[in-house]
Amino acid sequence: MSNGWAVITGASSGFGSLFARRLAERGHPLVLTGRNAERLDDTAAQVRAATGATVETVVADLATRDGVDALLAHLRGREVEILVNNAGFGTHGRFGQVPVWRESTLIAVDVAAVVALAHGLLPGMLARGRGRILNVASTIAFQPAPHQAVYGAAKAFVLSFSHALAEETRGSGVTVTALCPGPTRTGFVAALESDVSGVAVFGRLAEPGPVVDAGLRAMDRGRRVVVPGLRNRVLAASGRFIPTTVLTRITGRMLASGRPARSERPVGAADTAS
Ligand SMILES: NC(=O)c1ccc[n+]([C@@H]2O[C@H](COP(=O)([O-])OP(=O)(O)OC[C@H]3O[C@@H](n4cnc5c(N)ncnc54)[C@H](OP(=O)(O)O)[C@@H]3O)[C@@H](O)[C@H]2O)c1
Repeated sequence: MSNGWAVITGASSGFGSLFARRLAERGHPLVLTGRNAERLDDTAAQVRAATGATVETVVADLATRDGVDALLAHLRGREVEILVNNAGFGTHGRFGQVPVWRESTLIAVDVAAVVALAHGLLPGMLARGRGRILNVASTIAFQPAPHQAVYGAAKAFVLSFSHALAEETRGSGVTVTALCPGPTRTGFVAALESDVSGVAVFGRLAEPGPVVDAGLRAMDRGRRVVVPGLRNRVLAASGRFIPTTVLTRITGRMLASGRPARSERPVGAADTAS
């Protein structure tokens, strides 16, 4: 059986460009999308040169309905075998200090576009009895995230949505996997548009290659969730044993910019707390 199309959102950078390379190496023709035409074309050219794969690009802003519709229109009539819902960005800062339009745009890209693309492509996959959806969530999905409140909630949505879709499609030949990376060296930190140099969570960044490989392995096996990296798996699992209030407080401290103001510190916290 020939390989169907693989569609990768956010292919102009980071995880997305690596997904493109790996899936082309497996013999899939690709449709890549992103807003930045130059970077998208660079990815496409590199993938073509390295693998000889067919690579098409669609420049689209997935924060807009027009952008999502343009991508779906481009895909109409094709056998899409793999959808990698990867495009996304985060915000950082106290809720109220981040402009609300950025938070709304985040929800549009990280949540609404994920839903719309799955909704658009799943019926064809189900009809063919064959397909894979890989949604890129995050370790932030496992607990509330003060200082990244909207981003954390958006990724919790993606995780929950993926679990539910995986169950709905069980036995259909279609699988749904949520990839939950920890902080990783991509364009993500720059796209936060916030100085996170003193933020504990971003102090150590993983390399993206092993994250993408773990995501694809999990997708191949039809696993519902994958958290790459032992440290990330331990942190993700800690929510099962630690009360949410406590976990949220710890997470807030790990995501706060620099030293928290005295009024922000938990009652009883030592004066030397970082
Ligand atoms: N790196 C991390 O630490 C980390 C950890 C956990 C989860 N993640 C998730 O991993 C995914 C990929 O991010 P990354 O780490 O690879 O960061 P990245 O290098 O900044 O890549 C983000 C991609 O999303 C695309 N994108 C952003 N806004 C878009 C929009 N409005 N319309 C269309 N495409 C848009 C960007 O393309 P254009 O700029 O060309 O539009 C870019 O290709 C995201 O969902 C992110 O939340 C990242």
